[in-house]
This record gives sequence, C-alpha cells and structure tokens, in this order.
Amino acid sequence: MIRAGVVGATGYTGFELICLLARHPEAELAFATARSDAGKRLSALYPTPLDITLQRLEEVDLGSVDVLFLALPHAAAAEVAVQALAAGTRVVDLSADFRLRDADVYSAWYNHRHPAPELLGEAVYGLTEWSREDVRGARLVANPGCYPTSILLATAPLLQAGLLEGATIIADSKSGVSGAGRAAKIGSLFAEVSENLKPYSIGHSHRHVAEIEQEMAALASKAPRGLLFSPHLLPVTRGILSTIYVPLPGGWGAKQLHALYRETYAAEPFIWLLPEGETATLAHTVNTNRCAISLHPVPERDQLILVSTIDNLVKGAAGQAVQNMNVMFGMDERAGLL
Ligand SMILES: NC(=O)c1ccc[n+]([C@@H]2O[C@H](COP(=O)([O-])OP(=O)(O)OC[C@H]3O[C@@H](n4cnc5c(N)ncnc54)[C@H](OP(=O)(O)O)[C@@H]3O)[C@@H](O)[C@H]2O)c1
Repeated sequence: MIRAGVVGATGYTGFELICLLARHPEAELAFATARSDAGKRLSALYPTPLDITLQRLEEVDLGSVDVLFLALPHAAAAEVAVQALAAGTRVVDLSADFRLRDADVYSAWYNHRHPAPELLGEAVYGLTEWSREDVRGARLVANPGCYPTSILLATAPLLQAGLLEGATIIADSKSGVSGAGRAAKIGSLFAEVSENLKPYSIGHSHRHVAEIEQEMAALASKAPRGLLFSPHLLPVTRGILSTIYVPLPGGWGAKQLHALYRETYAAEPFIWLLPEGETATLAHTVNTNRCAISLHPVPERDQLILVSTIDNLVKGAAGQAVQNMNVMFGMDERAGLL
C-alpha cells in the first residue's frame, strides 16, 4: 500500500483527493491536514461517512508517507513542498507553484517572489498523457491547472504534428464555481452566480495563460504564435467546457483529423474522442477523470473548432493528481479512477 498525506484537506480539491484515495485499491490516506479546521472531523465540514480527524500540519511527520498531495493556495504550497522533499517524500502539488519553469515569469504573473526557485528545474509538469515518462521518476510533480488541462489535451495532437505553426489559438472556456475554491467570496455567492454567465480576465490576463503558452511551446514541433483566452464563470458546481478556435490545417477534413486524434490517444484510458457529428458536453465528464474532445472543422472559413470538457476537480485537479501518483509508483494508471 502506498501511504499518502493530503495537506489542505478542507478545500474542494483536498476533499476530492480524500474521496478518491478512500476507494483506491493500492493507496491509503495516512493523514489529512487543515489550518482553520484542525482538530475537527471531516464529517463536520462535508457530508461524508469517512471517519477522519483533521490534523495540524505541524503535528504530522511529512517523512512518514510515500507521497504528499498539496491542495493549498500558491506560495503556501511551495513552502510545504520544500519540507516534504527534505524529509524524502515525493510531492504532487495541485497549486501553480511549480508549473512555470522560470521564477521571473512566476513573479510577473503571481506578484510575489517564488519561495523555492531552486526546485523549478526538477519539477515535472504532470499533464499525464503527455509527460508520463518524466512523471514516473519525479520527486516533484506540478499538477496542471484545470483550464490548461482542458485546452492542452485538446490542442496537443495538432501542436505535436506541427499543424498550428504561427497560429493564434483562441480558447473560450467556462468553469463551474468550485473552480474558485471553497473560501467565501462575494463573486461565488449563489445570488451572484445563479442565472448568470460572467466572463472575467479576458484576453491575455488570466494566470493560466502563462502556463498554457509555456506548455504549448513545449508540445509543439512548430511553435504557435500564442493564446487568446477568455474564461467564464458558469452557474454549475463543477465542470469546464473549452471551445477552442484554431486555423484548419490546409487540406484537412474531418476524417483525417479524427484519424490523427484517434491514433494519438488510442491507448489513453481517460481521453474520450467523440465520433464525428457529436459534441462534447459537461455531462460527458462531470464526476469522472475523463477529458471528452469533439472536433468541428469549418472548411468554408478555414477554421477548426475543438470542444473539450473535464471535471475541474477531477481531471482538472485531484483525479489527475491520483493518476500522476499511480504513474510515480508504478501502479495501474487507472487505479482508483474508474
Ligand atoms: N478548485 C479547482 O477546480 C482547482 C483546480 C486545479 C487546481 N486548483 C488549485 O488547487 C489548490 C487548492 O484549490 P482549492 O480549490 O481546493 O482551494 P480551497 O477550496 O480554497 O482550499 C484551500 C485549502 O488550503 C487551506 N489554506 C489556505 N491558505 C493556507 C495557508 N496559507 N496555509 C495553509 N493552508 C492554507 C485552506 O484552509 P483554510 O480553510 O484554513 O483557509 C483549505 O484547506 C489551489 O492552489 C488551486 O489553485 C484548484
């Protein structure tokens, strides 16, 4: 059995991790830590039959587990990662702290100095389908962001094939409210979100832009120009749907595109390529670790529209983190996730 610890267990992704670990056949939860709610039972915070008492981070031995999941805000996560690695424990960090390779780029987008720049070189960006060889041997995995997961999985086959050279990729994404975390914020109140659809950080200003452009450049055999990204707050609890506009590769039709995606993702248990004529929706992926992708060429305008959906808390966070743990410890990648 792999022993796992969860830090930040009272947040949405921390709780999701605990639920996934509880049904994992080869991993067990050794401890779950909290800050404000330390000492409480998890069932006092969430409607769960799991009998878990939340501990303070200072009370637990970080070296007593094989893997530590960090479900903390950025900056706080890096500090704990340093302690865990020093104790010999492998880390999967759900925050943005180790996703960007350059400390200056991190400071520019996150408005503070990176707490552990010396670790950026070794952190592996854990978009599992595209990095499992590196994830396998990693001490520190930077679990991708939720929007980046939906956009990168949908565009990677085209990028890898060099079909988006010089392109501006336009991603219009909608996320459920759990994407903003559990802390009380006016913008997440029912009365603010319900019966509304709110764009925010339009264009090139959302923090995920840096991560997506960095990884697009890494995946591409011929570099695209960059990204335009418009996220929206959708009045549902979970799920992300990204509608992505790219130039249609010259002479390519629906059959050829489907063949490319089918071939690229043939062995992937969590990528669901929809047949021609069908469209990915949130319902295809909510509460699962899947990413559903549908392809919509518009030859009369030389455009290709991709639709990609995930559950932000599962494939966009805790599910992908468990998938990465499975790879790190040589387990079946699907363990605990089907
Ligand atoms: N929500 C998503 O869909 C999603 C998807 C991908 C990645 N992520 C990333 O995953 C991380 C966790 O997200 P979340 O949505 O689960 O957040 P959340 O619901 O707001 O929970 C954050 C957790 O961290 C604790 N915490 C906050 N500040 C802390 C500090 N300075 N030191 C120690 N603990 C602290 C909170 O405890 P208190 O209650 O005591 O503050 C809570 O347990 C974030 O970095 C987020 O960007 C989230």
